[in-house]
Parts: sequence; structure tokens; C-alpha cells
Amino acid sequence: MNFELSEEQVMIQQTAREFAESEIAPSAVERDKNAEFPTEIVKKLGELGFMGMMTSPEYDGAGMDTVSYVLAMIEISKVDASVGVIMSVNNSLVCFGLEKWGSDFIKENYLKPLARGEKLGAFALSEPEAGSDATQQQTTAVKEGDHWVLNGIKNWITNGQSADYHIVMAQTDKEKKHKGITAFVVEKGTPGFEHGVKEDKLGIKSSDTCSLTFTNCKVPDENVIWEVGKGFNFAMNTLNGGRYGIASQAVGIAIASYEAAVKYSKERKAFGTEICNHQAVQFKLADMAVKVEAAKLLTLQAAALKDAGKEYLKEAAMAKLYSSTIAVECALDAIQIHGGYGYVREYKVERFLRDSKITEIYEGTSEIQRIVIARSLLKEF
Ligand code: CAA
Repeated sequence: MNFELSEEQVMIQQTAREFAESEIAPSAVERDKNAEFPTEIVKKLGELGFMGMMTSPEYDGAGMDTVSYVLAMIEISKVDASVGVIMSVNNSLVCFGLEKWGSDFIKENYLKPLARGEKLGAFALSEPEAGSDATQQQTTAVKEGDHWVLNGIKNWITNGQSADYHIVMAQTDKEKKHKGITAFVVEKGTPGFEHGVKEDKLGIKSSDTCSLTFTNCKVPDENVIWEVGKGFNFAMNTLNGGRYGIASQAVGIAIASYEAAVKYSKERKAFGTEICNHQAVQFKLADMAVKVEAAKLLTLQAAALKDAGKEYLKEAAMAKLYSSTIAVECALDAIQIHGGYGYVREYKVERFLRDSKITEIYEGTSEIQRIVIARSLLKEF
């Protein structure tokens, strides 16, 4: 077993760290306050090759491994989790699935510009009546000649307003239930396709989450991903690949909380000494450090298994479940250590708490992760 990163992985981590500190950090507080989408930052991430990190160079991606992706996601999310989720969705929910299951047409026309970071992607599975219970898709697609006509509503779509290409799951044969769901690429601007207003969220405020509406929206047959009826399978397998992305985002938030807490505890004095000298604070810092390390290792393990071509479904779900849980816990502890200062915007740690909560909800809630883990481990015995 080797815990050493390769030279290339260290370089990517360093590049992400420098970019996060110089380009993302200075505007993070303002963008959070104004719920402003980081358009320029996303463009620059694309130029760095961070929007299609794992996509093969054959499709204009950076051809990096999953471990490098996790390292970069941690660095970016440490500074701004909103930027983290935008990057994660494009990489692991959009480029990953299109490369694996998209046709040559889809790869040429959609994957390549997405991997270059010139276009942005979104993944539209959730609906008002189909969140965790994702087989209950109400959006329909009916074949008419050489195109499909989509009708329905999607909810909670990350990158919903800014994305150029949306992966949309729709019911194409109700009788067949989840085996009658098909995935499509739908371009922004297609007549009959509109996005809703940006949701006013608790956290990750500068990412644009919104609903999508399809009203007799015509999508060409060539935009079907994989095969008709394979859409649920596609969505599940893509989400399996997405979980280490959100796990990394959560690890990034947890590290940010932990580092802020250590720093503050060495500056703030109470009862005649820096508060880091009080055991009550030390115990919190020690627990945070252990949690951060364990979450990071679980996430890197899932990524390393994927890079080795091994099964990683259970490990990715474990990484997401644990990392998101401890991200919330570390953010809460960081606030507690900051006391009243932790409760105001100026000290940033309140943002870590607001940003952390969503990691327990999207791309499969913690309860769904437990289902995935339990089903997987029960098969092993
Ligand atoms: N990987 C691959 N296939 C899977 C799978 C998995 N993790 N889980 C289920 N499947 C397959 C099953 O094998 C089965 O296929 P077959 O019928 O062909 O054998 C099919 O899916 C249906 O499975 P079940 O009968 O087990 O269905 P279920 O309803 O009992 O459970 C579920 C399904 C696991 C709960 C699923 O609905 C699920 O994962 N829900 C969570 C949805 C989710 O993660 N949403 C996130 C939205 S995306 C998002 O947040 C993006 C964003 O913008 C940030």
C-alpha cells in the first residue's frame, strides 16, 4: 500500500491550490452575499483543464486520473464550495457519463466543448415528485418522426441557468417503468425549454440552482444517450461516478473549517491564554483532524479504486456519506470555537456550515447512500 502522491498529482494539487487562493478566494465572500454565479472563474477553470479533468484527450479532456480530480476538487471547495459543485457536476455527472455512454455524435458535438470548458453542463434527474425516489419520472418524451417531444418539469438543477447542455431523463415508455426511461442531451435555447428563477438557497449561493420546464420541446433523435430505455441505468451509473466529487467537496469544506478553527484558536485569548491551550478546544480540534483525515482517505480510496479499474460503488457511497456528515460537524465545531465571531459573516465559518448542509442532500441523500452501501454489502456475503 502506498499513500504517496505521484509528482503529477502533487503538481495538480498545487495548481488547484494556487488558483483557488489567487482567483477564487478574493471574491468568494462577495459572491456568496450577492448569490452571483462565478462566470469568469468557471471560464478560467476550463482553460486550466479542470472542467474535463478525467475526460480523455481524444475528446479534448485533460486525461487526468480520478485521484487528481479529487485533490483539485478539495482545493477548490476549500475556498468556495459553490465553485466546487459547478466543477463537480460538469466533470463527474456530465463529461463522465457522456464519454462512457454517449454516441460518436454526442462526443463530438457535446462532450468536446464541455471537456474544454467552453460549454457548461447540467444533469436533470430530480423532479417535484421524484427526488430520492428517482424511478418515478413524470417528464415524458414521445417519439415523432426523427425527434422526441419532451414535456415536464425538473427540479433542483445545479448549473440550471448557466448550462449550455443539459442531460435530461424522461419517461419514454410508462408501461416499462424505470426500464422505459431515456436520457437526452438538450441544448439551452431549444424552443419549449425554459429555466426557472434561481433558488434562494441556504448555502452554495453562487451556484445557480433552478427548475427546468419542457413544453412540447423537440429534441433530435441523435441526442439520445446510450439507448432508448437505458436512461435510468445511465443516471444510476453516472451518479455512482459522481459521489466521489461531492465527497471531495465535503472534504474541502471540512478542511476549511478545521484550518479556520486551528488558526483562530491560536489567536484568540480567554482566561489568560490562547484558547488552543484549553483542553475543551483541543479535544474539538483533535476530533476535527481525525474526521478530516478519515474522510479524505475514504474519498481517495474510492478514487484510487476507480483508477485501478476496480469496483468502487460502495466505497464512493461511503466516502460521500462520511465526508458530508463530518463536513457539517466540523463546520459546527468551527463556529463553536469562534464563539460569537463564528456567527457573523466576517469570519467566514458560518458560510462553511451553510455550504456543508447540501452535501448531505444532493447527488443522493445520506439515507440513499446508506441504501446503496447496505445493498452492496449484503451482496458480498
Ligand atoms: N448503480 C447502478 N444501478 C443501480 C443502482 C446503482 N447505484 N441502484 C439501482 N440501480 C438499478 C437496479 O439494478 C435496477 O436495475 P434493473 O431493474 O435493470 O435490475 C434499477 O436501477 C432499479 O433499482 P431498484 O429496483 O433498486 O430501485 P429502487 O427504487 O428500489 O431504488 C434508488 C433506486 C437507489 C433509490 C435510486 O432511485 C436512487 O439512487 N435515488 C437517488 C437519486 C439521486 O441520487 N438523485 C440525485 C439527483 S442528481 C443531483 O443532485 C445533481 C445535482 O444537480 C447536484
